[in-house]
Amino acid sequence: MDFSVGDFLTSKVKEAASTLPELGKDFDPEIRLSEANFGDFQSNGVLSYCGKKKLNPRATAQSLCENFAQQHANEYTIECAGPGFLNLTIKDGALIQWLLQFHTSDAYDGHLKSIFSDKTVVVDYSSPNTAKRMHVGHLRSMVIGEALQRFVRFSGGKVIRDNHLGDWGTQFGILLMEIKRTGYVFNESPTEAIEHLEHLYQVGVQATKDDPKALDEAHKELLKLQQGDTENKTLWKKINDISYQSFDAIYQRMGVTFDYVLGESFYCDQVDAVYQALQQHKLAVLDQGALVVFHSEHPRFCKQPFIIRKSDGASNYASTDLATVKYRTDQLKADAMIYVTDARQCDHFEQLFLTVKKWFACENKPIPGLYHAYFGMVLDNTGKAIKTRDGKPIQLHALLDEAVTRAYDLICTKSPDLSEEEKRHVAEVIGCGSIKYADLSQDRTSNYRFDFDKMIRFEGNTAPYLLYAVARIHAIFRKLNLDETNCTFSQVPHQFSTETERSLAHKLIAFPTVLSMAIQDLKPHYLCRYLFELAGCFSTFYKADKVIIDDKTSQNLRLLLCKATLSTLEKGVYLLGLETVERM
Ligand code: ARG
Repeated sequence: MDFSVGDFLTSKVKEAASTLPELGKDFDPEIRLSEANFGDFQSNGVLSYCGKKKLNPRATAQSLCENFAQQHANEYTIECAGPGFLNLTIKDGALIQWLLQFHTSDAYDGHLKSIFSDKTVVVDYSSPNTAKRMHVGHLRSMVIGEALQRFVRFSGGKVIRDNHLGDWGTQFGILLMEIKRTGYVFNESPTEAIEHLEHLYQVGVQATKDDPKALDEAHKELLKLQQGDTENKTLWKKINDISYQSFDAIYQRMGVTFDYVLGESFYCDQVDAVYQALQQHKLAVLDQGALVVFHSEHPRFCKQPFIIRKSDGASNYASTDLATVKYRTDQLKADAMIYVTDARQCDHFEQLFLTVKKWFACENKPIPGLYHAYFGMVLDNTGKAIKTRDGKPIQLHALLDEAVTRAYDLICTKSPDLSEEEKRHVAEVIGCGSIKYADLSQDRTSNYRFDFDKMIRFEGNTAPYLLYAVARIHAIFRKLNLDETNCTFSQVPHQFSTETERSLAHKLIAFPTVLSMAIQDLKPHYLCRYLFELAGCFSTFYKADKVIIDDKTSQNLRLLLCKATLSTLEKGVYLLGLETVERM
């Protein structure tokens, strides 16, 4: 049995097609999850293939059906529909076999294949700029990136999590100037210090606007830093250390860890090699003093250049990113890179990727897979950019605190019997989980409205709804005094006895296919939608069919369904980066 019924069907339908002369080797059955009521999967490939080759789709589909049925009639029903679609439904016996094999979440491990399987994949996420606190705008990269790196790892990718800090920007000139002007000394806690630095930076920005002398001073400080001046280097390092300590407090709370924290500064002395290589390959040219790359084949980038060295000779975001790709392929042996940033950086990454492809091709180096998993803005519930009352960005730690407080209130009403300690723990899991889930359950490419009232409640496609479904299944096993991690299901019927059992089981086998789609498109919301529907199917099943019954074989099958649902929900929620609780 395959974990992914979708993949299994793809190979078996291909096999059945291979004996039909009209369907060549290039035939792709295009197996998809079908919309409700038309079987589990559908194959649309015959229609498009016959369209291209001017064949009769209905007749071809019919022969394919017969071929497939000869081999697999015991496990699958196959039907020809419409002008040439195939509907494929798994039969009860085979479905129960699948459940018996894949009801524990560790049984899932190592089965799912994706374009990232066996590849070394750098996931570049969070990556905030230093010298500032993290605010609500920093949420999405961290949350989406964490889910994506888990997806890639689950499908057998060797993941390298890299936090590419913005630690080498022009902000340091202004900040260094202001630190020196005010005689700031670093003797506060990281949280206070970073807030203080943020304030100094704002004062500095205003000063450079009001006074050209200040602007000049800031430039000089930046130059000194770039030339390695000891005093400035020491201050710069202190600022970065303090920034990271304040970020780390958030990472710990959100369950995020990195393998590398190589900021932009790490690549400073690698940019010269990039300038040289790109000039040597005639990809980069001098334009008004700056070194730039034009992409003549592109409608916009033929005129809008990718500036890789500024006219004053300084490196920039593009230069360090080019050096980063080289470092990741040469040193970290990366086969692919996934960048998780906001959509405003789409042009940057498109230009970066185009440049890298040409550059590596010139050097006959394998071109890594380059993916920009971009996301929209965080808006308030009226659709405006989210801010505090006085117009400032909302600090991330304050946002998490509020979520946890709200989750605590919710849990006190729902489960007053939990101990105080449990309430606190569940509130932390639900609070942080709700923030993550609300973000992940939206298509990442659109803007998303941040709304506490909608995300922290037990109704709808929310984290509390899913986490509650998990806790409820644990409660069923507790009631029966069974250890859900170790129970076995030796005797089960070969057929389902109710439609609700059957629908739940059919929903369960869709999990691998949904995951494949989510990994392929780097879109966690597919998985969220699926888990929400699965929890809904479970709830319908649980209301309709009693689990604890006299007939022990039937009870076994129902418990098997509970166990498989639990494993799927827990695995799914884990892949999204959320924690679960056994009781709430
Ligand atoms: N520091 C950048 C920002 O705050 C994100 C960096 C993303 N990673 C990269 N390699 N460019 O927007």
